[in-house]
Amino acid sequence: MSQTPVLASSRAELATLLADARPGPVGMVPTMGALHDGHASLLRTARDRIGDGPLVTSIFVNPLQFGAGEDLDRYPRTLDDDLDLCAREGVDIVFAPSVDEVYPGGPPQVTVHPGPVAEILEGKTRPGHFRGVLTVVAKLFGLVRPDVAVFGQKDYQQLVLIRRMALDLNMGVEIVGAETVREEDGLALSSRNRYLDPEQRVAATVLNRALRAAQENASYGVDVALDEARAELRTEHEVNLDYLVVTDPDLGELPEEVPPGTEARILVAARVGTTRLIDNLPLVLGRNDGER
Ligand code: PAJ
Repeated sequence: MSQTPVLASSRAELATLLADARPGPVGMVPTMGALHDGHASLLRTARDRIGDGPLVTSIFVNPLQFGAGEDLDRYPRTLDDDLDLCAREGVDIVFAPSVDEVYPGGPPQVTVHPGPVAEILEGKTRPGHFRGVLTVVAKLFGLVRPDVAVFGQKDYQQLVLIRRMALDLNMGVEIVGAETVREEDGLALSSRNRYLDPEQRVAATVLNRALRAAQENASYGVDVALDEARAELRTEHEVNLDYLVVTDPDLGELPEEVPPGTEARILVAARVGTTRLIDNLPLVLGRNDGER
């Protein structure tokens, strides 16, 4: 494992580094930088999968996935610290291109149409977001040609859509979903947590408490689980709920009647001040008769 990753800022440099890289499966972790322990855990998962093969991470704040009025301009950019983290995690190549390098000639004419799963949940509040995400991820896959790429369950809808894209477009890359890394009080690590003031930071913990309340009551069925989560969310007036839903693991609708033991996902999005936070957890459902 190399101590210091090599930085590539152009596609040409990246191509040369990949051509000269050690043999073995190529692992990739795409990011937008401002790296934290969540990203580090994805790098470790990738390393576990590829052994001594080359590990590549990309750091690129992708304008195509930000809507008007979103935080593109103020999104944190911390390249020096990011390179330190990559060195600690044994990354071989860091690809940190400029916008022009990724989109020469401006926004692309051909983009990835993400299909119906992009219309719900995050896609409703952020129209065009997943088209931007899938387009850049497809481009990055084209440049790096990874065998394995790791994404966080933290952005669950993104993970589901990237899996779908890799499958539907035969991209020949294995998509691995890694568990969400959290602060001790349960808040999912996010580059956007730094936007929270101290009071909001405390209020934000209600998201995970609500999901855990649902998880603990999932054996009583979807309705009870959702009621418990909603009750928890109501305890925090600072937090404005956007959605709280239970879906099947692929984000499809659950049938009315599900056999006990059915796996599901609960997802929440809320605004704390002007900061939008998301979280989700797996559920194992029991009977849904409203009884405890
Ligand atoms: P970014 O927000 O930087 O996240 C990069 C990867 O880190 C994503 O797969 C995300 O799910 C994962 N991640 C973030 N917080 C995490 C946490 N607390 N625990 C585990 N994993 C976590 O997601 C993006 O960038 C972009 O949309 C990208 C895929 C790079 C395309 O531009």
